[in-house]
Amino acid sequence: MIPTAQLCELFLSTRSRTEEMCQPLQTEDYVVQPIVDVSPPKWHLGHTTWFFEEFLLDAFIPGYKRYHPEYAYVFNSYYESVGKRVVRTDRGNLSRPSVKEVYAYRQHVTEAMKEFCKNHLDEDNRHILEIGIHHEKQHQELLLTDIKYILGNNPLLPVYGEVESEEFIENSKTEFISIKDGIYHIGHDCEDFCYDNELPRHRVFLEPYAIANKLVTNGEWLEFINDGGYANVLLWHTEGWDWVKKNDIQHPMYWFQENGVWKQYLLGGAKAIDPNATVTHISYYEAFAFAQWKGMRLPTEFEWEVASSKFDYGKRWEWTESAYLPYPNYSKPDGALGEYNGKFMVNQKVLRGSSIATPDHHVRKTYRNFFHSYLRWQFTGLRLAKSL
Ligand code: AVJ
Ligand code: FE
Repeated sequence: MIPTAQLCELFLSTRSRTEEMCQPLQTEDYVVQPIVDVSPPKWHLGHTTWFFEEFLLDAFIPGYKRYHPEYAYVFNSYYESVGKRVVRTDRGNLSRPSVKEVYAYRQHVTEAMKEFCKNHLDEDNRHILEIGIHHEKQHQELLLTDIKYILGNNPLLPVYGEVESEEFIENSKTEFISIKDGIYHIGHDCEDFCYDNELPRHRVFLEPYAIANKLVTNGEWLEFINDGGYANVLLWHTEGWDWVKKNDIQHPMYWFQENGVWKQYLLGGAKAIDPNATVTHISYYEAFAFAQWKGMRLPTEFEWEVASSKFDYGKRWEWTESAYLPYPNYSKPDGALGEYNGKFMVNQKVLRGSSIATPDHHVRKTYRNFFHSYLRWQFTGLRLAKSL
């Protein structure tokens, strides 16, 4: 368990990191919501702040006066049991509160939380503080991918700045790691923080399989494109094929062709595709079709977790074949925070690993990320597997 003093420091460093990430933005960049899944940066700044105000300051300080009576309505994301809120599709219509006002709100709540850490932190609420910090870290990842979507879909392709390993070159040769059949333990098992969806630890039986030591590259993806992968109905799920047709999908997100050269938008600026870099910004549908084309498959989340000590990960979220479901004996936390993960356990796929956008303290082999099959604005990639 993290000592209290460290927890409070982690709170402060997390708060400043979020703000630092927004430094390259112009005021207008903070406000737009180009698609429903992408939230305006200003909204992320406010929502992560509201979380501390709602679940700690207001809940545990008797007589606490909220910073603004309407901000719970503006910045509540999806907590039905807490109250009404701006519908998700309207987040980009909020010209007010202004960016300046949202920063003032942040500062106010950060200060109030400092006082909270000194005088109100106890055994009952320290876990909520931990969730609040990890929640803001999750939003840091969303913030970066949302910024990329906002800038990368602007015709001027504005540069945000270099992001380490946004283009990740893997020079090692592809090898397959064999894993024996057997009963394996899955799920979180230590004192450190984890989300409820990583619990409880339980056993699964796995048939023998092999899993790649590295992620699929752009070069392999170009072969898939050139072999007509996006035009071969036999490689796709019906849903995936409908998605391809409806959206005219012919390549990963952010790719474009200029004078016959494949290029991609990167936060550091558009550049030619490097065939040795790992393919990024693909949907589950595309990952599945690619694996079919290779005569292989995606690993299940259990196969991934069991093998994870034998390969490097952390550059891209890896699509798995697994549906996002509760583990045996899973129980939702009581109250509003029970809405955090459990209610999304339908019609989504699990992604494992973590990405270059994932903050420190947020990478672990039991972490279960989840998204709908068609989404690809996160830093997503794939690792191949096969049954033996
Ligand atoms: C785990 C990334 C799917 O995007 O809603 C943010 C993270 N949870 N606030 C999401 C989250 C609550 C979550 N994902
Ligand atoms: Fe959130």
